[in-house]
Amino acid sequence: MTDRSGIFAGDDPIALAKSWLAEAKKTELNDAIAVSLATVDQSGMPNVRIVLLKEIEDNAFVFYTNYESSKGQELISSGKAALNFHWKSLRRQVRIRGLVEKEDGAQADAYYNSRPLDSRIGAWASQQSRPLLNREELENAVRENKDALGASPERPPHWGGFRIKPLEMEFWADGPNRLHDRFKWEKPDIDATWTINRLNP
Ligand SMILES: Cc1cc2nc3c(=O)[nH]c(=O)nc-3n(C[C@H](O)[C@H](O)[C@H](O)COP(=O)(O)O)c2cc1C
Repeated sequence: MTDRSGIFAGDDPIALAKSWLAEAKKTELNDAIAVSLATVDQSGMPNVRIVLLKEIEDNAFVFYTNYESSKGQELISSGKAALNFHWKSLRRQVRIRGLVEKEDGAQADAYYNSRPLDSRIGAWASQQSRPLLNREELENAVRENKDALGASPERPPHWGGFRIKPLEMEFWADGPNRLHDRFKWEKPDIDATWTINRLNP
């Protein structure tokens, strides 16, 4: 067993991540929901970029993107991903490793429809991660899509959500003299129960 207390207490790591994120939303300058998303391509080469975390569900972290982007292809082909939050104002980090699921149903439609019209058009116009000749080419694509799609476009089939269902979560908080606190939660599969270990900093 571990001597978890204070900010590390609780028996559900997803609820704990939720409460750390709620704190970060009060203290971060902006984008407390920004999270690094790590993937690997088919040759095993890692890749990482920021996305905005839009929902924390009972057993998953959800963000939205283009399925044909580099990250989209890497998430779909490997079925695995890692996330990393770093909240500088709190001096805390949360690391997540888990399995990937697409959210391309009603929930993705609802989120897409909640976005400003220009963002909805942008999701149609941008062939994310593919080469672009110049800015004008993108602006032309936006104009053409705007004219063709009207005021209430449907969610593009190439755009939607991903759920990361954690198998590992680590909570890290800054300590004096680099003697940080780390607690790692692990389970062998999605339906198993968590085991928790305190780790050396
Ligand atoms: C603060 C911030 C938030 C971002 N949020 C998203 C997002 O939610 N979804 C997304 O597709 N890209 C987002 N991006 C852009 C990605 O970092 C990345 O440039 C883009 O998705 C292409 O990545 P890929 O080529 O690896 O697929 C964000 C970038 C920043 C800096």
